[in-house]
Amino acid sequence: MKHQVPRMGSNRTGVQMSPLDARRMHEQHGEVAPVALQSPGAAASADMRARYIVDAAPLGSVPPPGSVKGVLNTGVAMISGNSPQLLLDKLGERLASERTATRICDALITKVRATQGDGDEALLPLDMLLTMREQEAGHFALVARCIEDLGGDSTAQTPGADLAGVEATGLLQAVSDPRTTVVQSLHALLISELADNNGWEMLVALAAAHRHTAMLREFERALDRERAHLQTVRAWFERHTLGAPRAPELPQ
Ligand SMILES: [Fe+2]
Repeated sequence: MKHQVPRMGSNRTGVQMSPLDARRMHEQHGEVAPVALQSPGAAASADMRARYIVDAAPLGSVPPPGSVKGVLNTGVAMISGNSPQLLLDKLGERLASERTATRICDALITKVRATQGDGDEALLPLDMLLTMREQEAGHFALVARCIEDLGGDSTAQTPGADLAGVEATGLLQAVSDPRTTVVQSLHALLISELADNNGWEMLVALAAAHRHTAMLREFERALDRERAHLQTVRAWFERHTLGAPRAPELPQ
């Protein structure tokens, strides 16, 4: 694989490139504070953002379940004191995240294929990456089915789904950028897997709180697979960066 270690080059972004300007800046402004919250400009911009925060509408809403079964389920959950809309929102969030995880895997598969023959494919076996991609797509289908079983609309974008989509934008950009290496892309996948693990832990806890027993069992299986993904991606990343041992096999 090409250029896995960053090369030395004509990088001109640092202040050391212009010592005269740097000295003049220090004379006029003193030391540059890493977090300049106290500066007049930063305070004015924080004030302006605060006004928008106070006036802003919410990110969206959770549509009420449309089917009779869903309405009944919602009624039961409301009587027992749980918030069915919270479960539906978190399912919507997971649906968006699993879609993105699948796309991140697709982009990385393309990158690995494009750089095949460069010498160290064994460090990131394509068959394991394909398995991981299929499991992410399977989790997407599982969450969509659970939303429909609750009477929800799996095509609706809930507030959590909206947020997850925005958060993942940078990760997808990082992996899709043709200039990033496989190792750099692996870092984006690592962030995605960390969030996946936390998301599934949350869903397992919510399914238990709502006493959705069948759903709980399926979510626990998904969490097991996501824990294996995290372990594998972390091992790949450390292998490429530190020369650590080979990644363990993925459970099916
Ligand atoms: Fe995953």
